[in-house]
Amino acid sequence: MSAALSISGLSKSFAGVRAIRDLSFEVPKGRTTALIGPNGAGKTTVFNMVSGVYGVDAGRITVNGTDVTHMPSRRRISTGVARSFQNIRLMSHLSVLENLLVGQHVRASSLAALLTPYRLIPNHRWKREARAALAESGLEAYADETVGALPYGVRKRIDLVRATLAGASVLMLDEPAAGLNPSETNALRDHLRALAAKGVTLLVVEHDMHFVDSICENVVVLNFGEKIAEGPLSVVRRDPKVREAYIGTDGED
Ligand SMILES: Nc1ncnc2c1ncn2[C@@H]1O[C@H](COP(=O)(O)OP(=O)(O)O)[C@@H](O)[C@H]1O
Ligand SMILES: [Mg+2]
Repeated sequence: MSAALSISGLSKSFAGVRAIRDLSFEVPKGRTTALIGPNGAGKTTVFNMVSGVYGVDAGRITVNGTDVTHMPSRRRISTGVARSFQNIRLMSHLSVLENLLVGQHVRASSLAALLTPYRLIPNHRWKREARAALAESGLEAYADETVGALPYGVRKRIDLVRATLAGASVLMLDEPAAGLNPSETNALRDHLRALAAKGVTLLVVEHDMHFVDSICENVVVLNFGEKIAEGPLSVVRRDPKVREAYIGTDGED
């Protein structure tokens, strides 16, 4: 099976403290993988290195076969990798549709496309695509609503639609269920399953193990920056090293 994301021998220190040590794992294409571990284990640091916010001290990061290890952050979207943030980066004064159109601009490669006055063209292809993507996710009713007025769970899902419209095929989500109520969590779970069914690769950091269990085929467990286990959650959660890592934390079991 080919890897959408491949991390090999990755290391990172902050002021001499090793945050990530010789970390290697692969995220298979079209699958959903969880990156779990106690607070401070290094999960967000991995996301920051894959998205290019932090440089690496050693190791290699490959997205869809392209080595992105030293690629500037802004160019990495062209390889398909994108990240959603805990603080949603939608423009709250614009409508849902307008936010999606701004995201699609990222994907436009030619100057002509960038200069297209899409607001003046009622049935511009991007608008049709954006409306279709909203409909697919059951969010079409919100198309013309102002983002700032929408519930948090809806905004979160619109952020996902925006990322995929912008060309993301490998999506990293840092604690996507945090702050959501149970019905919003269910809607998010269905949305992520639908993305996975369309072939989008997901790497999810999440503390809610029921949520992880409901969407992830495979988990990678980090502790103090090292991989201590990898495999199906049902197997990994019985691993003595994993149980020990979670003692005294708010982790499951
Ligand atoms: N920018 C930074 N400067 C200094 N230390 C950092 C920085 N980012 C992360 N760290 C440290 O790296 C370790 C891993 O942090 P993090 O990746 O945020 O863990 P997690 O997301 O698993 O909770 C922690 O010890 C944290 O303090
Ligand atoms: Mg974190």
